[in-house]
Amino acid sequence: MFITFEGLDGSGKTTQVHLLAARLEAEGAEIVITREPGGTPLGEEIRDLVLHGGDMAPWAEAALYAASRAQHVEELIRPALARGATVLCDRYVDSSVAYQGIARGLGLERVLELNLAAVGGLMPDRTILIDIESGRAVARMSEDRDRIEREDDGFHGRAADGYRQLAARFPERYVTVDGTVAPELIAEEIYGAIRRNP
Ligand code: TYD
Repeated sequence: MFITFEGLDGSGKTTQVHLLAARLEAEGAEIVITREPGGTPLGEEIRDLVLHGGDMAPWAEAALYAASRAQHVEELIRPALARGATVLCDRYVDSSVAYQGIARGLGLERVLELNLAAVGGLMPDRTILIDIESGRAVARMSEDRDRIEREDDGFHGRAADGYRQLAARFPERYVTVDGTVAPELIAEEIYGAIRRNP
């Protein structure tokens, strides 16, 4: 099973990836936790470039995220799924659609198309969206911000709207949870949703 986690920086996604992994591991499943951009040696190099490098053209940015993802799918995600592991991935295609497609304005369809080509059509079985209002997410970001986190509040607001559009478009795989309640309650809701509808 392939489960992705999406949401703004500061939504608490990473905490939830680990909480779900612990519960599923306790049931005896093989769990692979990974993240984007990154997840492979090439992906980590791209991560450094895209988050800590200098200015770049919007399509260069979109192509770098897609390149990291293509490597990630080939080297790590497909082999893990093929041996029956459950893969929990912190961000995936929908991050590019929300951030590059909608917040940057490159277009939902074009960015989705680029990414579907990069991943050979591999999409998650479930996508957990941790929904949080952008003002609140920005307030939770650390002082030491990466290139994307340094964007203005309008950018983060458009990314949040982008995620809501994606959840409406792909209701069969989306599970949207309220990111403002206690982490343990969010974890319970996510686990319940996965168990009800694996
Ligand atoms: P993330 O690893 O979640 O940040 P952190 O390490 O601070 O938790 O993501 C890094 C940033 O990259 C985040 O601001 C969102 C952005 N991003 C995109 O714009 N497009 C993408 O396709 C991905 C995967 C991330």
